[in-house]
Amino acid sequence: MRLDKFLSNNNFVSRTDCKKAAKEGRIKVNGVVFKDTSVKIDEYIDVIEYNGVVVNYKKFTYLMLNKPVGYISSTDDPRKKTVLELLPDNYRSMGLFPCGRLDIDTTGLLILTNDGQLAHRLLSPKHHVYKTYFFECSPSLTDESVRHLETGVDIGEKEITKPAVLCPDDNLSSGTIAITEGKFHQIKRMFEQVGSKILILRRIKFADIELDYSLKEGEWRPLTEKETEILTSIGSNN
Ligand code: URA
Repeated sequence: MRLDKFLSNNNFVSRTDCKKAAKEGRIKVNGVVFKDTSVKIDEYIDVIEYNGVVVNYKKFTYLMLNKPVGYISSTDDPRKKTVLELLPDNYRSMGLFPCGRLDIDTTGLLILTNDGQLAHRLLSPKHHVYKTYFFECSPSLTDESVRHLETGVDIGEKEITKPAVLCPDDNLSSGTIAITEGKFHQIKRMFEQVGSKILILRRIKFADIELDYSLKEGEWRPLTEKETEILTSIGSNN
């Protein structure tokens, strides 16, 4: 693997910053300053240092994106903007894809990874991963519709929806809803079934990983070690 690719994938350094750091002698391979970042290194054997800190090889990349309205959660669409367009150019070749989908008008927490097996586990209904959303709706819910959403509604699929966890605000026109499934437009269809319409939907939590509110819409960051651990441990024993 090229040295600049290694640093970009494992230390989130852009090619330009990488070149600058190399010129200034801030990149070392096995203790020796390297000024040419196009050299090939062995990611399993060589010890790479950036600004005096050893950069460990990571097999997979995990990012958190605060998705804005107007972007679709797929990797390729000639007609619409995709969430991948929000990442720097050098990330396009890393094989990243969104873990599950958010509608074009839904905002909030989207996890991007190139760990295909993990994505499969996270999306499997077997693992019951809760996804929590903030919603605003109109007309307001009623106590009865809240109970209905919590127990399961018929949205025209084979089975009624799995139990949801609702925490509506006092006015019953906003709040949070957590679901374990991810059917097409699921929450919008659930609300329609109880006579209400979703006006705003923002994902604020995926399993125990919370949306980082320091990220503006359209911004992203790598998952922290703790968040990566939470994510990768889901369903890892079965
Ligand atoms: N449910 C929806 O209706 N839309 C989303 O984007 C996510 C869940």
